[in-house]
Amino acid sequence: MVKKPRGVADILPGETERWQYLEQVIRELTRVYGYREIRTPIFEFTELFQRGVGEDTDIVMKEMYSFRDRRGRSLTLRPEGTAGVVRAFIENGLHKWPQPVKLYYVGPMFRYDRPQTGRYRQFHQFGAEVFGTAEPVADAEVICLLMDFYARVGLRGLQLEINSVGCVSCRQALVAALREYFRGKTSGLCSHCLERVERNPLRILDCKEEGCRELLKEAPVPLDFLCGGCQSHFAAVQKELAACGVSFLVNGHLVRGLDYYTGTAFEVLVPGIGAQSAIGGGGRYDKLVETCGGPPTPGVGFAVGLERTLLALAAQGVELPGAAAPEVFVAFAGERAAGRVPAILRWLRAAGIATERDYSGRGLKGQLKQANKRAARWVVIVGEAELDRGNVSVRAMETGEQVEVPEVALVSWLKERLGQ
Ligand code: HAM
Repeated sequence: MVKKPRGVADILPGETERWQYLEQVIRELTRVYGYREIRTPIFEFTELFQRGVGEDTDIVMKEMYSFRDRRGRSLTLRPEGTAGVVRAFIENGLHKWPQPVKLYYVGPMFRYDRPQTGRYRQFHQFGAEVFGTAEPVADAEVICLLMDFYARVGLRGLQLEINSVGCVSCRQALVAALREYFRGKTSGLCSHCLERVERNPLRILDCKEEGCRELLKEAPVPLDFLCGGCQSHFAAVQKELAACGVSFLVNGHLVRGLDYYTGTAFEVLVPGIGAQSAIGGGGRYDKLVETCGGPPTPGVGFAVGLERTLLALAAQGVELPGAAAPEVFVAFAGERAAGRVPAILRWLRAAGIATERDYSGRGLKGQLKQANKRAARWVVIVGEAELDRGNVSVRAMETGEQVEVPEVALVSWLKERLGQ
């Protein structure tokens, strides 16, 4: 037997209901916030991620599923959603739509990382992106939507951390200071960071290696290098968040694993799910549209890891809807009654009532046992004598009570009792 590759999962009935529930919350919440869905391809040209996410990031250096197609072009399974959405925004002329354009997506992402609890090679994100406004209220609204999502699904005790990593102009002084600091400490750095000192010292701030983390404790932090504009933007975001009633912690050491961020960056952490405690994150990316070949357009967004959200819900003992039992089971006794079953099933199903039957020719007793096993609420029993009277019997499985109902009135009789 050929088994599935490491780090991917089959999502089976019993679990799919939980996924559908998350998706239902996502659709409802994005609707009330005025975000519209975008669906972009699972694979893109590799160059998009090299340019968008950044050549020096772990994602691009080590984690991409890249392959050549039959014409020798390099394609990559999307490791994240933002770059593809930005490409689609430019390619389809969404910059000509009334701004801001507010988009969301749900779907699989792919990263070749070492699998462990909460970290997979195929995982799913719910993401949202807002284009065309550089205002701090947009940063705050995006964060509000993110926190509302967690609250709606029932997560508690989350920690929202925010930071500002500065714009291109504050970067220059920060990069110079970082280079200066790390040049004197090269012996403590990992081999990747050693190269990053000259190429892109900002990325060292995101390194997970023990030695580098130790050196980072004393390293210059982005917050100390913010220009006046970035300082007031960051202050306004905090003020707006407070006005929305969202609590947060400013973490000057927070940097994100992707190169496109300018200004606001944030992450949501949840205790109790192990090492992979970041269940969502995002930030502002005011240069990304230009980097990808579009007109200057500011942007801000986030992505939630849905597997980690489900892990956190399980860890907190939050019950999500499970498999739905059939509302009605149709049983019959006798040849003539069997002939009526297909029509009755079709009426009930057409009326939106979840209805099951037996497929294997069991006797009435066996069918009732089946109905019990499937936890049906009502059993419709089609019998010859009742048919002669134009009726069917209906039994409430909870009480065992049984009544005769005219066949023509069956749908409305059941709907009333099912509260539909
Ligand atoms: P990210 O922080 O790389 O950001 O990913 C967002 C979330 O995806 C993480 O917080 C985590 O919950 C989940 N995640 C990431 N990698 C894995 C994995 N290997 N297994 C399971 N879950 C994972 C982004 O992807 C940005 N595109 C977010 C963004 C949107 N920024 C602006 N707009």
